[in-house]
Order: sequence, then C-alpha cells, then structure tokens
Amino acid sequence: MPEQNIGLITGASSGTGQATARLLAQRGFTVFGTSRNPSGVETMPSVEVLPLDVCVDESVDACMDSVLKQAGRLDILVNNAGYELGGAIEEAALEEAKTQFETNFFGVVRMVKAVLPIMRRQGNGQIINISSLAGLAPVPFLGVYSASKFALEGYTEVLRQEVKPFNIHVSLVEPGFAKTNLARNRQYAANRINDYSPWRRRAFEAIEQYEEKASDPTQVAECILRIIESKSPRLRYRVGKDAIRIARLRRFMPESLVEKGTRSYFHLDAEH
Ligand SMILES: NC(=O)c1ccc[n+]([C@@H]2O[C@H](COP(=O)([O-])OP(=O)(O)OC[C@H]3O[C@@H](n4cnc5c(N)ncnc54)[C@H](OP(=O)(O)O)[C@@H]3O)[C@@H](O)[C@H]2O)c1
Repeated sequence: MPEQNIGLITGASSGTGQATARLLAQRGFTVFGTSRNPSGVETMPSVEVLPLDVCVDESVDACMDSVLKQAGRLDILVNNAGYELGGAIEEAALEEAKTQFETNFFGVVRMVKAVLPIMRRQGNGQIINISSLAGLAPVPFLGVYSASKFALEGYTEVLRQEVKPFNIHVSLVEPGFAKTNLARNRQYAANRINDYSPWRRRAFEAIEQYEEKASDPTQVAECILRIIESKSPRLRYRVGKDAIRIARLRRFMPESLVEKGTRSYFHLDAEH
C-alpha cells in the first residue's frame, strides 16, 4: 500500500469508477473522483467529484491542480474512464476511431504524464489502468475499442518497467463483462455496411447476453483495493470467469482453436 492514501479515479460518475470510489472512501482513503459533468453525479460519502475530460489537456491540468491544492500529493491514480465504439472495423470512420483512442488510450497517456512528475518527486505512487477482456482477446464488432485496450496493455507493460526505480507501481486490470452503463453509453459507427449485418447482429446479441448475466462492478472495485493493498502488485489482474477463461485459452491453446472459440463465443457463425 502506498505510504499515504490520496487517490484519483477517472470516470467515477457510474459503473466501475463509482464502485471503486465508494469502496476506497469506505476504507478511509481520501478519494477524488471525476466526471465531465460533476453536477450530475450522485453524491458519494467522502468522495469529491472533480470536472475532468481526459481528452482535453487544460482539463487534465486543472484537475491535477485541484487535487494538489487540496491534498498536496497524489498516491494512487486509477485510469478508468472509457467508452466503447461499436461496429465493424470497416464501418468505423477514421475520426470515430481517433476519438475512441483519444479517450481510452491518449486519455490515459495524458493522465500518466500529469501524475508522474508528482509521484517521482514523492518517491512513491501507484497507477492502475483499467483494460478489458477486449485488451487480451479480440472482440468482433468492438474492434477499435479492442485495439485501444491492446494499445493500453503494451503501454502499461513498458511504463511499469520504466518507473519501477522510482517506487511507482503500475498494474493492469482486465475485467470481463460487468453490469455498468458501458453498453448504454456505447457509440456506434455512423456508417453501416449492410454486408456485415448478419454477423454484427449476432455478435451484439451475444454481447447483450453476456452483459445481462454479468455481475455488478463490485468485484472489479475489490480487485483494485487488493492491488492497492498489495506489497508487490502484479502486472495483470483478471476479473470475472469470462476474462480468466479466455486468458487461459489464449495461453494454452493453439491459435486456430482460439479463433474457432472466438467465433463461437460471439455467435458469429450461422448455427447460433
Ligand atoms: N462494463 C464492462 O463490461 C467492462 C468490461 C471491461 C472493461 N471495462 C472498462 O471499465 C472502464 C469503466 O467503464 P464502465 O463499465 O464503468 O462504464 P460506464 O459506467 O459507462 O463508466 C464510464 C466512465 O467513463 C467516464 N468517461 C467517459 N469518457 C470520458 C472522458 N472523455 N473523460 C473523462 N471521463 C470519461 C464517464 O464519465 P462522465 O460521462 O461522467 O464524464 C463514466 O464515469 C472503462 O475503461 C471500460 O472500458 C468495462
């Protein structure tokens, strides 16, 4: 656990971020959450919600100034803000793909660049990046989202190596499906190519089924707390049966079988 306990969680207005903010506050951490619209966020005991759009440099600077003014330091950053872009890879316009990366990948890059000088100066810190099952396995028709999380995985592995000498711990959390507002907030590529329709429809039907069966994000929040409390946090943490199973399959099965499994899991072939 970091020497002190000031935490910042991006995207704390709902879902995983909100569950994590609540849990850390209950455990006595000083918690700053964020939202692009803090006035619309349900009040959480002992959590201050700051305005933040991770796509805007000035917003990141203002958020960090506010944390430092109030707390004087920052021990834990949870990069959780994100959304999904749905549609076939060919359907996603370049601008839509760039906007997806702007939040899910460059949003993290911005936050990390803002906190590292502080954490290096302090001689301690912890950064936890929320990736996804989609960051360790392909999710058809969420291809650009998947790519943004794969990018986050590579970035985080390197970051962990580079900042280790400064006593800054870096980890990835890879949740499977969780019941949050992610599906409701999903954006879809504006361009629809009819040739993809049967496969797109089947993939989203499968995704909806998994989302319906998913548990609430408490498990992810509890995992984040475990990472914070760990003396030597690992690089990767998988949360949920689906993420654990798929990671295992990718590790031990030949690629051809993994590909077949992916088609079957997302009901891509007509027999489903
Ligand atoms: N739910 C799942 O099944 C699942 C599975 C694996 C990984 N994840 C990952 O978990 C993380 C949290 O998602 P969730 O499931 O909790 O979804 P959610 O309920 O939709 O929450 C997403 C959060 O991200 C924030 N956000 C979105 N764009 C932002 C931006 N540009 N700047 C700042 N904040 C922004 C939203 O805040 P405002 O709209 O208030 O600004 C919101 O608080 C995401 O990174 C997601 O990829 C989710």
